[in-house]
Amino acid sequence: MRKQTDSARKQRLALVPCPYQGHINPILQLGKILQSRGFSITILHTIYNSPNPQAHPDFSFFPIPEGLSKSDISSGDLAHIVTTINDNCKVSFQHLMEQQESQEDDIACIIWDEYMYFSDAVATNLNIPSIIFRTSSAATFLGRCALLQLHARGLIPFQDSILHEMVPELYPLRYKDLPLPICSEFESSVPLIVDSHKIRNASAIIWNTVDCIEQSCLMQIKKEHCPVPIFPIGPMHMIAPPNSVSLLKEGTSCIPWLDKQSLNSVIYVSLGTMVSIGEKEVAEMAWGLANSKQPFLWVIRPGSICGSDWIEKLPQGFKVGVRERGCIVKWAPQKEVLAHKAVGGFWSHCGWNSTLESICEGVPMICNPHFGDQSVNARYVSHEWRVGLELENLERGEIERAITKLILDDEGKDIRARAKDLKEKVKLCTGEGGSSQSHLNELVDLIMSF
Ligand code: UDX
Repeated sequence: MRKQTDSARKQRLALVPCPYQGHINPILQLGKILQSRGFSITILHTIYNSPNPQAHPDFSFFPIPEGLSKSDISSGDLAHIVTTINDNCKVSFQHLMEQQESQEDDIACIIWDEYMYFSDAVATNLNIPSIIFRTSSAATFLGRCALLQLHARGLIPFQDSILHEMVPELYPLRYKDLPLPICSEFESSVPLIVDSHKIRNASAIIWNTVDCIEQSCLMQIKKEHCPVPIFPIGPMHMIAPPNSVSLLKEGTSCIPWLDKQSLNSVIYVSLGTMVSIGEKEVAEMAWGLANSKQPFLWVIRPGSICGSDWIEKLPQGFKVGVRERGCIVKWAPQKEVLAHKAVGGFWSHCGWNSTLESICEGVPMICNPHFGDQSVNARYVSHEWRVGLELENLERGEIERAITKLILDDEGKDIRARAKDLKEKVKLCTGEGGSSQSHLNELVDLIMSF
């Protein structure tokens, strides 16, 4: 199947995203990066949550029918959805790849999100090299390895008595910070974690992280878990040329509102693309924000408050107060918001993309993790890089104190200073001659050598 490379033809890379915003964004950014190094890019994506081809007219897009039913999708069971995609996509993906190889440029390599592991079998069948793309932190990978071991020893679910103890060899993670999936039954997620960790026939791993924040975790992974080269070439959004890759419409109405606020005064609140919250929690958030007396920009995704379409369940008195000091939007251009001079803090669920974006803008964080890798990232933000505070309880008094400390008080001064320092360190890594750029050069050399 593999043809001789014809130097007159441009080398093409096939990228396979996992169909969630937190995975699609970085893989499209990776596509932009590799395109800027001379490769043509083809995105092979599921029909479910497909990316918008119009946002990338210079990429080729091909849908793979993944056969998810309405009930699969509405189940919200991520392990089931991802497993079904892997079960259903292999044959059509192979067919599409064969067509590509006959019609387009040579496919030099298939780069697949770690959860789209059906791609590796097809790459092997067609004798095309493949590379894995990991979109969560290196610390999360180690956390998941620990969970698999603890599961094998019958220790999950954890006894309450050990939740606050440190996990041996995984400082600063406590048992309660390990990345347990969204569904309460860990058992049902084990096969997916095992499958996403396998290297199979891949030649290398691209990681959306950066040496200066995760070097020791990356070294541990290289030593204990990984016989192939690892290329930490992130944060992808810093290396990639700017472009909108959002699945949701980015409301820009908040920017003129931010323009009117004073320097470093606004707390930006967003819990990402998947977290849902109950009415009681929303009331605590609302009153915590109101009582802090700081201006706030709050992203409330339609449907993210349980049992309501948008903001109907916000407390009535609060809605009146919002007009004075707050701005609520359905979606925001997050990177632009974090870069805005009025933003002084980010109250985040600590998804990995949000964490990286906040670090890159030097914005200190209030960490409010909900599930999965978010608790690992939150712990690293608050206890390793120490550029944020962890919210232990979603309770209005604690929220008010956290916002005041992060944005105003002397007590938060060191956190704010460290956030600025970390921003500079990452800038050095992503700038010319920095570690991410060097790893990118090595990656390009590897692909060219296939
Ligand atoms: C999910 C999981 O929750 C997370 O733990 C995992 O690391 C990735 O997948 P998600 O909720 O998508 O995370 O959060 P995150 O990884 O932070 O990605 C969200 C992306 O959406 C970010 O790139 C952010 O800039 C963007 N976003 C979010 C917006 O552009 N506007 C918004 O209003 C909110």
